Amino acid sequence: MEYRDLGRTGLAVSLLGFGCGNVGGLLIRGTPAERERAVARAVELGVNYFDTAPLYGDGRSEEHLGQALRALRPAVYVGTKVRLAPAELGDVPGAIARSLEASLRRLGLERVDLLQLHNAIVAAPGGRGVPVGTVLEAVVPALVRLREQGKLRLLGVTALGETDAVQRALAARGLDTAQVCYNLLEPSAGVAVPPGFPAQDFAGVLGRARAHGVGVIVIRALAAGALSGTLERHPVAVPTVEPIASGPDYATDVARARRLDVLVREGHAASVVEAALRFAAAGEAVSTVLVGCSSLAQLEAAAAALARGPLPPAALDRVAEAWRGFATRGC
Ligand SMILES: NC(=O)c1ccc[n+]([C@@H]2O[C@H](COP(=O)([O-])OP(=O)(O)OC[C@H]3O[C@@H](n4cnc5c(N)ncnc54)[C@H](OP(=O)(O)O)[C@@H]3O)[C@@H](O)[C@H]2O)c1
Repeated sequence: MEYRDLGRTGLAVSLLGFGCGNVGGLLIRGTPAERERAVARAVELGVNYFDTAPLYGDGRSEEHLGQALRALRPAVYVGTKVRLAPAELGDVPGAIARSLEASLRRLGLERVDLLQLHNAIVAAPGGRGVPVGTVLEAVVPALVRLREQGKLRLLGVTALGETDAVQRALAARGLDTAQVCYNLLEPSAGVAVPPGFPAQDFAGVLGRARAHGVGVIVIRALAAGALSGTLERHPVAVPTVEPIASGPDYATDVARARRLDVLVREGHAASVVEAALRFAAAGEAVSTVLVGCSSLAQLEAAAAALARGPLPPAALDRVAEAWRGFATRGC
């Protein structure tokens, strides 16, 4: 397993991070034995970052991760999140403190390594997401206070929402990490996309994070499974899922993913999933790539894929061709 600096935090994290979210769902809907085995195997493979949130399975992800950690006592880092409801924006410090206390109880920990804002970041109040002004003036100071109380070690955000607002948040001092959506169907965080590319333009947010010393945790590296090229979901996975920032729906993402089969036909990778993980891990800005798993086999495949290193230039040429096709034909 490769380890990379998590920005300027001093922590070195495994290139493969364990996503305890709802999409793969192993940590939420797996049996207790399956969950413990998955965490144990991840640790054997060298994974040292586990990502959860109160929202995942309505607290079950945190509870189940806590059970597995108590059973196995591995030396790993745990990150969780806080999602603020609109009504909580009037008392941000109180809402964050209450959410963190509940997370610590479910996880069975006295402190988390990382607490991240789960909400999208937007420019102005009134829409979905938390305004960037609130992030900087209320969320970050509240997290800093909790760090001073010893309840968390690092603080971060989710780099979703409106691009300018996300970029402004990253440029302000104080953030240790950002969760960045980056995959073969939504590459704009790391790559300049062709005009008309049919996805949100994150305008190189990976480079921006790196410039500010913010550690990047990649999310949606497999576009929630669409990059497997099949509409069918694993029985333990969430039955339906909305894309984040890529296509208008999961079926469109799957159709675009199938255009990337050329990478397999030409022998650049054994599967598009493998190619997608190697792509997501390649940037210097990336510290760890989270993968949501429905099975142990998916976890093993992710570790093996990342061990193969970045895609070769000839494969990236094919990818760029596919992106031009998405921009001009939609697929
Ligand atoms: N901060 C945020 O707002 C945010 C948002 C999203 C995710 N995250 C974090 O990122 C983590 C991972 O992201 P994600 O769960 O959204 O999605 P993801 O990792 O992009 O995709 C996970 C899905 O990919 C498929 N997959 C995985 N390995 C595979 C393999 N070897 N072969 C074929 N298919 C494979 C599985 O689909 P099937 O189950 O259908 O087989 C799995 O459910 C989450 O657990 C969470 O920790 C954070």
